Amino acid sequence: MKQIVIIFLVVFSVSTTLKSQTALGTLKYEDFNKPEYCGTSCHTDFYMQWKQSMMSQAYTHEWDEIEYFKLAIPHAEKDGKVAEVKAGCNGCHAPISYVVGDVPPPPPSQNSRANESVQCEVCHSITGFSGDIPHNFNYIMEPGKTKFSSRVGDMESPAHKIVKTALHSSGDFCGICHNEKSPYDMWVKSTHLEWKEGPYFKEGVQCQDCHMTKTEFRTASMGTVYKDTKLHLFHGAHDPGKVRGTIELRINPDIKEAEPGEIIKFTVALFNQKTGHKFPTGSVEDRIVWLDVEATDSKGNVYHLPVDKKGFEGEEFTISTDVLAYQDMGIALNLPDFKGVQRDAVPYGDRIFRMPYFDPQGRMTIQQWNTSKLGVDYRIGPRETKTETFTFNLPGTLPSGEMKITAKLNYQLLVKSVGEFLEVPKEEFTPLLVNEHSTTVTILD
Ligand code: HEC
Ligand code: HEC
Ligand code: HEC
Ligand code: HEC
Repeated sequence: MKQIVIIFLVVFSVSTTLKSQTALGTLKYEDFNKPEYCGTSCHTDFYMQWKQSMMSQAYTHEWDEIEYFKLAIPHAEKDGKVAEVKAGCNGCHAPISYVVGDVPPPPPSQNSRANESVQCEVCHSITGFSGDIPHNFNYIMEPGKTKFSSRVGDMESPAHKIVKTALHSSGDFCGICHNEKSPYDMWVKSTHLEWKEGPYFKEGVQCQDCHMTKTEFRTASMGTVYKDTKLHLFHGAHDPGKVRGTIELRINPDIKEAEPGEIIKFTVALFNQKTGHKFPTGSVEDRIVWLDVEATDSKGNVYHLPVDKKGFEGEEFTISTDVLAYQDMGIALNLPDFKGVQRDAVPYGDRIFRMPYFDPQGRMTIQQWNTSKLGVDYRIGPRETKTETFTFNLPGTLPSGEMKITAKLNYQLLVKSVGEFLEVPKEEFTPLLVNEHSTTVTILD
């Protein structure tokens, strides 16, 4: 038995290392059909779903354009250590431009083929990935008349052949682009690794089950209706409905009645009921999730309650305060004395669920490619519950009657101060309420 297992492992590792990653500049644009070719007459619904998702905007979306052209390219041209990102960003954001060696591609306004972003034929030309861990666009691509997917189907397509792969129905497929290592060898994006360590992977729940949900539907306009057709929704952090309710909140006091001058302690429980990975995940360097607690007394006066410190290492990065950060944007922008912008830009004393990234000078950074160290990971894992406490020394002047205490969990795609500084459209830093819960306490005379 043991021998069989060993032989199997050897065969398996040989077959996966046989082919290496599709290298920069080894293919031609003509090797790939345009998404309109796939989507205009046959896969019309999938095309429209994909078109509304971030996959079709990975190159053209304004924040992507700004970060690539304003920060990453100039930085890569100045600092040999990160030179590889000039081409590498598009290994994931505009894969066909990467594999054809178009570096850097024209900006989105030029309407080049880079604008197709993560298009149909990228994913359906992938036959595997090189090495053991899917990450950093280590896909192996074989574009052509044969498409690779998770089902051959009962109807022959006039346009192409289909070959079934196990990879397309596995979360490992997504890891090819949803795990990223920086030039300093840090895991700066690890959605797939987080999922692998969490409960959903163990239960066989794939990324596709939540982001390409199954329903009774046609795979093509003339195609078969299957009970478990995989919709091409790819809805994530840019869909407010997906983010809302990700965390459930409950707040309770330790005593229900108190007199002015007494101390009350509130506990907030935060349960991650929705994500298969941590929250936030993906572009963790940009995302900010914060817990804000306020009390309103019977006369309508509002008191902001700062979170109680827990005392863990690196905690200072998880409590909002008035400090500057992100000075390394000055490298690309030719601002050697750049003082930085507000690190958090949310109410002081609020708990922030995040993992800070640091540049080689030890400064906090939103440039994942310039990350040489990761700080404390204070994000909320899949099905994890975190608790926070808020101690309130009731003012002597507090009026009697009912006091209401509300906990709100807010989310922003990008730290506001960075968004404003780089002139990113406002939608990227408009706060979104993930969830809220309130309790009351009676203040006695
Ligand atoms: C070829 C690379 C690639 C592969 C493979 C890939 N993705 Fe993505 N995905 C991206 C890129 C790049 C973006 C970011 C788009 C942007 O710029 O905001 C993205 C965005 C997303 C988003 C939207 C996030 C948001 O902010 O709203 C979701 C959800 C997602 N991918 C899920 C998946 C799943 C599930 C799989 C596997 C079935 C997968 N991806 C496979 C490259 C890829
Ligand atoms: C980010 C990668 C990605 C992109 C982009 C993508 N697909 Fe897919 N597609 C997949 C994966 C993965 C599956 C299989 C999912 C599974 O089995 O869980 C799939 C399945 C399919 C299927 C078979 C569905 C079924 O239920 O049998 C069709 C047809 C398809 N894709 C067409 C398209 C078209 C057309 C586009 C462009 C408009 C497109 N895909 C873009 C990853 C992608
Ligand atoms: C149990 C359901 C579930 C599973 C499994 C799951 N996700 Fe998610 N995912 C979510 C929810 C809910 C959100 C929205 C909240 C958020 O942004 O994290 C999300 C968000 C995302 C985002 C956007 C994150 C951001 O900040 O931009 C990406 C990208 C993503 N998922 C990719 C994946 C990939 C890749 C896998 C598999 C390795 C996966 N997801 C597995 C539920 C799931
Ligand atoms: C290994 C694949 C990969 C590489 C390499 C990569 N990205 Fe991404 N990028 C992604 C994925 C996947 C997402 C979406 C994750 C999420 O939703 O948080 C993303 C998200 C982003 C976002 C945030 C989009 C948003 O709307 O919030 C920006 C900006 C971005 N990338 C720019 C870059 C730049 C610039 C580089 C090169 C320095 C780069 N990326 C390299 C895969 C990659």
